[in-house]
Amino acid sequence: MNHFTYKNNELYAEEVAVKEIVAKVGTPLYIYSHATLERHFKSMDDAFSSVPHTICYSMKANSNLAVLKTFANLGGGVDIVSGGELYRALQAAVDPRKIVYSGVGKKDDEIEFALKTGILMFNVESEEELDRLNEIAGRLRCKAGIAIRVNPDVDPETHPYITTGLKKAKFGINIERSLEQYKRAAGMANLEVIGIDCHIGSQLTKISPFVDAIRKLKRLVVSLAEAGIRLNYFDLGGGLGITYDEEAPPLPAEYGAAIVAETRDMGLHLLFEPGRNLVGNAGIMVGKCLYTKKGDEKNFVIVDAAMNDLARPSLYGSYHGIQAVRKDHEGSIVADIVGPICESGDFLAKDREMPRFRQGDLIAFMSAGAYGFAMSSNYNSRPRAAEVMVKGDTFAVVRERELLADLVKGETLPAFL
Ligand code: LLP
Repeated sequence: MNHFTYKNNELYAEEVAVKEIVAKVGTPLYIYSHATLERHFKSMDDAFSSVPHTICYSMKANSNLAVLKTFANLGGGVDIVSGGELYRALQAAVDPRKIVYSGVGKKDDEIEFALKTGILMFNVESEEELDRLNEIAGRLRCKAGIAIRVNPDVDPETHPYITTGLKKAKFGINIERSLEQYKRAAGMANLEVIGIDCHIGSQLTKISPFVDAIRKLKRLVVSLAEAGIRLNYFDLGGGLGITYDEEAPPLPAEYGAAIVAETRDMGLHLLFEPGRNLVGNAGIMVGKCLYTKKGDEKNFVIVDAAMNDLARPSLYGSYHGIQAVRKDHEGSIVADIVGPICESGDFLAKDREMPRFRQGDLIAFMSAGAYGFAMSSNYNSRPRAAEVMVKGDTFAVVRERELLADLVKGETLPAFL
């Protein structure tokens, strides 16, 4: 069920009119639907109900505390990639035993923080990281649970920037070298080898690359058992895509059925790190039309949201649906929606057919819940947008709009000026 729908031509988020939220909070603004977050989490969780599993939400997609708490309340853990994410996860009361830590560049202080917190598992991405982890765990007199992030050399057939499981990628340890590294890890006093991990890319719209990766990893699991290394966890990463425009990715149930069929005989506890699939279509961004302008060759709709608020169109040429918050427009035009930032790359939609927007109109940018606010910045000294969560007929500001004073927080004028 879609929770961003129209009633009397007004766009609603669940049972709250978007214009009512804007009247209190202003624009640009992110709005998340709690019911959608819950539904997405539950459908992923249900897809694996027949086997032991944990959904470790990949919080880089949207790390707002209210989003984290929503999933934690449903029994979810998180996949983190920094000490900052670990800090946020703890603020949202995520169970440390459901935290997995990925990333190619874990720093000493971040590793210490995670060890002291007692997270479940480090997804180790290099040979040197194994040594570093062993050394730090030894110093802290504890054991680090580890999986090796295996790079299976599988093409996920998605955007090159978000393809991670090919040999040329910086991620993980090459599958051919993994067995030897597992053996080395098993001999280290302060490591406990408990899992195997891979993440092949993001916004996948087919199941077959996941299956290919699983089959490759399974062969490794067999070789590991032969070498006397027995695992408990199989972490398949994230990557299941969503519909932005016309993509038709598999449903979580289909994804689950295929994966369970491939993995059941290993008898391992499955871990998943979905990001986009849980939050992408649970959020919208709302901007206001400041001006319309007819160029010589193009029409422009200039809004108060920009590439600093939603970077995906500029960065990847991504598509986000455009909807009028109030549908009362006669006819349509083909236009670019652009922000106030001083770069030609600052666009939110290009050559798109859209309602004939006027000054003051509110415009919703759909499917903005994943990698939206999380990738926002202060470029052009623009305070970051507010975030709101709606639940039924109520809403709460879950992150206040930044103030001008926030823009200079931590800056000082040195005495020599
Ligand atoms: N696990 C690991 C180790 C990851 O690197 C990622 C995403 C995920 C899980 C979650 O993937 P998801 O389920 O969301 O596809 N900024 C880009 C996406 C970058 C994805 C990075 N890694 C975008 O806006 O499309």
